[in-house]
Amino acid sequence: MSNQLTKKEEIYSRIFDIESSLHNVQDVDVLLEIILTEARKVVSADAGSIYVAEGDRLSIRYSQNDSLKKNLPRGQKLPYTFFSFPIDSKTISGYVALTGSMVNEPNVYEIDEVKPYTFGKETDKMTGYKTVSNLTIPLNAPNGTLLGVLQMLNALDENGNIREFSADDETYLKHFAYNAGIALERSYLTRAMIMRMIKISEMRDPKETGAHANRVASYSVEIYDRYAFHKNVPEAERIKYRDSLRVASMLHDVGKVSIPDSILKKNGRLTDEEFSLMKTHTWKGAALFKPIMSFVDEIAVEIALRHHENWDGSGYPGFINKETGEAERLDYSTHKNQGLKGEEIPLSARIVSIADVYDALSSNRIYKEAWKEEDVLNEIRACSGTKFDPELVEYFFEALPNIQAIKNLFTE
Ligand code: C2E
Ligand code: SIN
Ligand code: SIN
Ligand code: FE
Ligand code: FE
Repeated sequence: MSNQLTKKEEIYSRIFDIESSLHNVQDVDVLLEIILTEARKVVSADAGSIYVAEGDRLSIRYSQNDSLKKNLPRGQKLPYTFFSFPIDSKTISGYVALTGSMVNEPNVYEIDEVKPYTFGKETDKMTGYKTVSNLTIPLNAPNGTLLGVLQMLNALDENGNIREFSADDETYLKHFAYNAGIALERSYLTRAMIMRMIKISEMRDPKETGAHANRVASYSVEIYDRYAFHKNVPEAERIKYRDSLRVASMLHDVGKVSIPDSILKKNGRLTDEEFSLMKTHTWKGAALFKPIMSFVDEIAVEIALRHHENWDGSGYPGFINKETGEAERLDYSTHKNQGLKGEEIPLSARIVSIADVYDALSSNRIYKEAWKEEDVLNEIRACSGTKFDPELVEYFFEALPNIQAIKNLFTE
């Protein structure tokens, strides 16, 4: 009798669980990807995209497509594509952003000519995918500010055949989008606080831009995703870890605010004495996250403190005095401070180390020109097992197509 009701209740309870989990995510990019994944589950969409509003344009952030993904090796992601287009009524998502209303088109190849928008067929042509049904909804902050657009493609019925999006789908997606907007707004505020810390570093060191912080963070997450795949890290743990990793790795060099200009901005090689002062950016940065109040703080300490440790033990700061934060354990044969080695170095720091060096070598620095991509990759390979964790170097190369796409997104 109440079979119908039970099914609806079940769906609502599932949506409620999904929505609660959104509120634990701290990082904007991680959240955008989760919103897309979960929204597709709510309305059984085979594919979809999420766009963010940037001024008068929409930028695509994530695209997912289960059918296309099936043709890839297991665990591999579709390569990222990034593009943006004006918020106007010529595209479906532009129209939704402009008017704030939801669009439900049963077949994008047969859109009524009185409608202002048309369907952009280029993506289908490029991928060989056939888009049919399309449900698109705005993502707003609680005060009504447009944050982005969520687009669901090709609803699937129980037999996996493409169907139209139903009136129920519209209701579920509206409910979901409302909560996603709240979570997204909050993650933007968290991101804004982090960006302020990075801006303080930038004021000291304008050449080391926020772009470096963003790239290192995005690369780190890509490497971690490959790690998580190979190690079968449970989904909930993976999401929590990569969220904190992304936020914390943006701040890996925040300790550089304490380094005098004469060293930080030196147009040439550092003397031994200058370099030993430079090395203090590790533990001075770590100190900013204490007392530890969250999982992000915990990972931020690991990363700031350990991102210059080397797999073979030749890095810094090594064992440090808990009171002063200064290096303390000496190797008696060399009289040098002994670094942490192998898995003594936290995973987060081993990952960021690769991401940091890849970006440092690929960029112009006040003390050096950018290297050619080929030379950078050879260097990373050559440092596998000495400077870098060899297993993570493999994951870096697996993630390279995504890493290179991100590199092009965050050009200075
Ligand atoms: P950074 O510029 O962010 O560089 C991060 C790491 O990338 C470096 O850590 C190093 O492992 C690698 N790296 C960067 N450039 C090169 C390069 O030309 N060749 C090689 N083989 N590796 C490179 P490291 O060495 O511990 O340096 C930490 C920070 O100290 C650097 O951060 C930078 O801010 C500063 N620094 C290092 N060397 C110099 C220098 O010769 N002159 C100046 N002005 N600053 C330096
Ligand atoms: C849309 O039409 O909503 C998305 C933009 C496009 O691929 O044309
Ligand atoms: C810390 O200062 O919290 C870590 C110190 C260490 O790992 O030696
Ligand atoms: Fe550093
Ligand atoms: Fe760095």
